[in-house]
Amino acid sequence: MSEIQPVNTTYEPFSREPEYVEANRAFIERQDLSGVDRFLDLACGTATVSELLLAASPRAHLNGIDLDPQQIELATAHLQSLGYTVRHGHELTDDYVNDKPVCVLAVGSADELPFPDASFDCVTIANAIHMMPDRDKFLAAVSRVLKPGGVFGFNSSFYAGTFPEGTERWYQRWLQEALTAVDRMNQQREAAGQPRIRRVRGKTRSAFKNRWLNADEWTRALESHGLKPHDVHQRVVMMDRRCMRAVGAYGGLAEVLMSGYPVEVASQALQEAVDPAFDAIGGDAIPKNWLEVWATKG
Ligand SMILES: C[S@@+](CC[C@H](N)C(=O)[O-])C[C@H]1O[C@@H](n2cnc3c(N)ncnc32)[C@H](O)[C@@H]1O
Repeated sequence: MSEIQPVNTTYEPFSREPEYVEANRAFIERQDLSGVDRFLDLACGTATVSELLLAASPRAHLNGIDLDPQQIELATAHLQSLGYTVRHGHELTDDYVNDKPVCVLAVGSADELPFPDASFDCVTIANAIHMMPDRDKFLAAVSRVLKPGGVFGFNSSFYAGTFPEGTERWYQRWLQEALTAVDRMNQQREAAGQPRIRRVRGKTRSAFKNRWLNADEWTRALESHGLKPHDVHQRVVMMDRRCMRAVGAYGGLAEVLMSGYPVEVASQALQEAVDPAFDAIGGDAIPKNWLEVWATKG
């Protein structure tokens, strides 16, 4: 029997990394959200960005949606640890408990929003818009639930322009070192009389089959749904060794980068490959560009 260890391959460890939190904070701070009464945080994950939104307008209510029940559990626990009461469903609540707005989370798809038209002052999708299988369906849903004059914000580090010139070499080396790590695991397994780890081809996740758009293409896509970008910004984030290990630990990405390998193996190999890749290329951090867009509903 294979003895691949079950490990935490969720997005959670990376979502708590200081570089990640600060990049998201800087994105949120580009927009004045102090007058917002109702937020909708799509693909809210572990609620890293939901927390930042609630801090930007402390009396506002927030609904959050994520496709993955595990993320909703983590988001619930995180918001509760901050003192918020969390309900589940699609209620648009006006309630406060202990003087804090009640948050409402739901498992669901970001392109099917069971809310009345013009429900929200601000809709966000952080670090996930590139995963939406049908961009037009998604943007139409966002536009519908936004109030006129409301704002839509997204950031993404998966767009045409995300890799600063010269950094591709580092990413190639990272993958090469990860494959070397898998070879090492296989040698250990053979020595222990265990079956080799096998790669099953053709299992790439559909989300990353999406073509990556550049900033101009995103602007046009939003405009075609009545969302007029007023702030389009590219931020350089320096990803250090610890941060890249947390990226490697994220199964959603590991599955894509090393498609076909068991996700635990891919995650472990990518983490082990970070130091050798930095040692080979030089330096202790790698820059990555984040696209940040804020748009107003006409
Ligand atoms: C990289 S995480 C980002 C989480 C959070 N927004 C943040 O910035 O920390 C991407 C999230 O998108 C969610 N997701 C992917 N496709 C989705 C969809 N169609 N609808 C809702 N959530 C989705 C995943 O479950 C995951 O929690």
